Amino acid sequence: MNNLVIAIDGPSGAGKSTIAKLIAKKLNIVYIDTGAMYRALTYKLLMNKIDFSDLSKIKKVLRQTHIDFKNNHIYLDEAIVDDEIRTNIINKNVSNVAKIKDVRLKLVEIQREIAKNKSVIMDGRDIASHVLPNADFKFYLSATPEERGKRRYKELTKNNNNISLEDVIKDMKERDKIDSTREISPLIKTEDAVEIDTTNKSIDEVVDFIISYVKRR
Ligand code: DC
Repeated sequence: MNNLVIAIDGPSGAGKSTIAKLIAKKLNIVYIDTGAMYRALTYKLLMNKIDFSDLSKIKKVLRQTHIDFKNNHIYLDEAIVDDEIRTNIINKNVSNVAKIKDVRLKLVEIQREIAKNKSVIMDGRDIASHVLPNADFKFYLSATPEERGKRRYKELTKNNNNISLEDVIKDMKERDKIDSTREISPLIKTEDAVEIDTTNKSIDEVVDFIISYVKRR
């Protein structure tokens, strides 16, 4: 059988990773969370106190960085960084790292390499438009900013971050703006993508919709 390739795009908090993870499990295919990769690199740059405008240092870090997924964990240079990349500091900085051309070139190369010759579901901002334009299925998940903010707030307060819902929504809107207006591969809904508004839908409803859509074809 041919490999199955599913692309999921959308803004933060639209439910992409939760939904993609469940679909991967149900269809027994590999899940690739590209946002986690931008987050891991942001974590490394912050830990090393690297100025995001210092391109030569960033290029050096990129040459010396290994990002991979193993057993549902994200590895940064052989260390698991699942929790470290989900903090408010990373949320605040990641869009500014993700807009750097050299960063995108390197991470997209890794993403395509991981997806090569296997069945995958990959989520992000530029998957349908740029990373896997030949994907068999393309879905664009959306939700109102208020709903997305509430979901992110829940995720953040799990880690005991001291932050208000208003601040989370404000930061998220700021990030959406950077992600969708940046010069290189901004967040867009491609014409061939199926849009799903997840605002008033449960996770299971969206998962079931996507799985039956994929199985129907
Ligand atoms: O989906 P997320 O919130 O984990 O993504 C983190 C950041 O990375 C977000 O600012 C958008 C950016 N990103 C991107 O530019 N391209 C991707 N394919 C995935 C994420």
